Amino acid sequence: MSINPAIASVETERSNLKIPAHIGVIMDGNGRWAQKRGLSRMEGHKAGVEAVRRAVELSIDYGVDYLTLFAFSSENWRRPPDEIKYLFGLLRRFVASDLARLIRQNVRVRIIGDRASLESGLRSIIEDVEVKTAANTGLNLLIAFNYGAKSEITAAVRALAVKVASGELDPGSIDEIALGSHLSTAGLPDPDLILRTSGEMRLSNFLLWQSAYAELVFVEENWPDFDESVFVRALKAFTERDRRFGGIGT
Ligand code: IPE
Ligand code: IPE
Ligand code: MG
Repeated sequence: MSINPAIASVETERSNLKIPAHIGVIMDGNGRWAQKRGLSRMEGHKAGVEAVRRAVELSIDYGVDYLTLFAFSSENWRRPPDEIKYLFGLLRRFVASDLARLIRQNVRVRIIGDRASLESGLRSIIEDVEVKTAANTGLNLLIAFNYGAKSEITAAVRALAVKVASGELDPGSIDEIALGSHLSTAGLPDPDLILRTSGEMRLSNFLLWQSAYAELVFVEENWPDFDESVFVRALKAFTERDRRFGGIGT
């Protein structure tokens, strides 16, 4: 049997990649992608949804267990009202158009962030997609929407304080596990890899507690240009990192 050497080397390259169990993505650069093309920022966000679909497909294909996508931050309220409205509409439309496919792909969807302050229509869409995919056992897709790590940690501290005040909890028993179990990611593994597109090198209030030991990878491409080659480049960078977790390595 003859093996096409080009295909064989792609396969070898792929089998040498370490696959993170949990990837967090700061999907940045939609506006700049659009601006470069003379399009509106909204067109950039629309193209960003296509990149979300590619990210989900690639995560399934490469065997990632958890994919967390940063879609709207608690600081994004500083944007013009029209853009905020458009981003909210996109989440709505994404759920409407993709729910059936996500179910077919065995994807479990959860939304993290402050949902209490979202309008009730959007809240019920969020609850609906979570309920309808709750029994799925494939990729865990977390969408961080109206999410900010500082307010997430603050809410966890407040919840612990309420338990202390009522006598339910002894302050001495508050440890990292107790705090972690009051975050929106309770019970989920911490991200191994945080990928940010568009060349910006900051976390912008994304998963600050959970990323304590994540490997950070920054790529120049804007989010709408995210594809398999960007994904594989990020996985290669991750594969080459020596994760020591404070120890002396292997
Ligand atoms: C990321 O793209 C999407 C969101 C933050 C909602 P941006 O809208 O931040 O794009 P740039 O950074 O302005 O290019
Ligand atoms: C981070 O991107 C938030 C999301 C990707 C949803 P931003 O574009 O809002 O971040 P900054 O303002 O450049 O830090
Ligand atoms: Mg941005």
